[in-house]
Amino acid sequence: MACTCVVGLQWGDEAKGKIVDLLTSEHHVVVRYNGGANAGHTVVRNGRTYKLSLIPTGILAPHVTAVIGNGLVVNPVRFLEEVDQLRAAGIAIDGSNLLLSDHAHVIFPYHVEEEKLGDDGAAVAIGTTGRGIGPCYQDKVSRTNGIRVGELLHPEHLRQRLRSVVARKNTVFRALHGAAQTFDADRLCDEYLSYAERLRPHIQDTTVFLHQALRAGKNLLFEAAQGSLLDVDHGTYPFVTSSNSSAAGVWAGSGVPARNLTRIVGVIKAYTSRVGRGPFPTELDDGPQGIGERIRTTGREYGTVTGRPRRCGWLDVVAVRHAARLGGVDELAVMLLDVLSVVDEVRICTAYELDGRRIYDFPGDAFVLDRCRPIYETLPGWKQPLEAARKPGDLPAAARRYLDRITELVGLPVSIVSVGPDREQTVFMN
Ligand code: IMP
Repeated sequence: MACTCVVGLQWGDEAKGKIVDLLTSEHHVVVRYNGGANAGHTVVRNGRTYKLSLIPTGILAPHVTAVIGNGLVVNPVRFLEEVDQLRAAGIAIDGSNLLLSDHAHVIFPYHVEEEKLGDDGAAVAIGTTGRGIGPCYQDKVSRTNGIRVGELLHPEHLRQRLRSVVARKNTVFRALHGAAQTFDADRLCDEYLSYAERLRPHIQDTTVFLHQALRAGKNLLFEAAQGSLLDVDHGTYPFVTSSNSSAAGVWAGSGVPARNLTRIVGVIKAYTSRVGRGPFPTELDDGPQGIGERIRTTGREYGTVTGRPRRCGWLDVVAVRHAARLGGVDELAVMLLDVLSVVDEVRICTAYELDGRRIYDFPGDAFVLDRCRPIYETLPGWKQPLEAARKPGDLPAAARRYLDRITELVGLPVSIVSVGPDREQTVFMN
């Protein structure tokens, strides 16, 4: 039995989807355990590009059961849109290969509205994806307002719940924001009951399913969304997402105890990117002709979900080391190494300077990290395309040196290197 977790060690968008896709053939079940349709997973398979936000990328493999775990917040509209898109692309989907936890929480339109009003007006505008993720998690924790997927299957109960929740929401919308936008509980209920009929075949207690799968000796692959530095507990708070996006989320978000994990793959880009606001010590904000822009253009660094340009900068091993320790990571996958072919020399941030002192541990608080200045080590670049590399010997010496240095600084082996979006553009280092 193998239980693998693929987790991002930066601020998301580390190209985890490709690694999940590569490892899927060795697994029977692929599980998402956090977040919602704020994630953007791009997978290129047989020359076709799939962009998934909510549904685990494992769905593309016919032998896999894809599971949306209890830790997610699910917008039924997005779920059904993705199912339709996948079906149109020829992927067979039914209640046997796509499971949705009855314990996952449901995103309603008022969550999106709350986010709009909250994020625009808040003192700390986080720059969220605007998908209602944070407000839905708030309602989950509040208990009085949270509605779970399983409740969609009980019409009368759902109507009562929505009447009481929506009344509270409308009071707040009117009082605090003077918002013209209020919601009609009965209309919302009818709308969601119609979605429920299509969701019904997929809904079950996925924790029970996963435990059965474990007992049957099946291999499970846990697919994190976002990156560990966006983890609500361990990331750059408050510029984080609202879930445990590090490997710490597996247990709570799926019901599978962490001790079952046999392999944890930490995925990093060969540089760093970030969408949304928040501190980013190695950011290259060096203008339209600068290296930051060159990396953004070459790496096509625009958000999968929102289309926003991603902020780009050098690799930060202080941050990666923190995330790797937090996740109990065994090995690293280094993605988009080919993008760094456009620079003359490469830099790695090995420490920060904070108030005149050199520090090696990552300060999780955004207001402290904001004051940290990166200390760099510079290595020669390789200035040649890597897209055709298929084995370690195909990589130029300078690129291998860069990877070795990452291993030394993070203290973990690099097992997989990606040199392009296609599955074949991968170098297995062992
Ligand atoms: P939220 O998850 O929409 O609440 O957004 C919170 C923060 O997480 C914002 O900075 C987003 O840009 C960021 N974020 C959310 N999902 C992703 C992702 O999949 N990749 C990268 N950043 C993300």
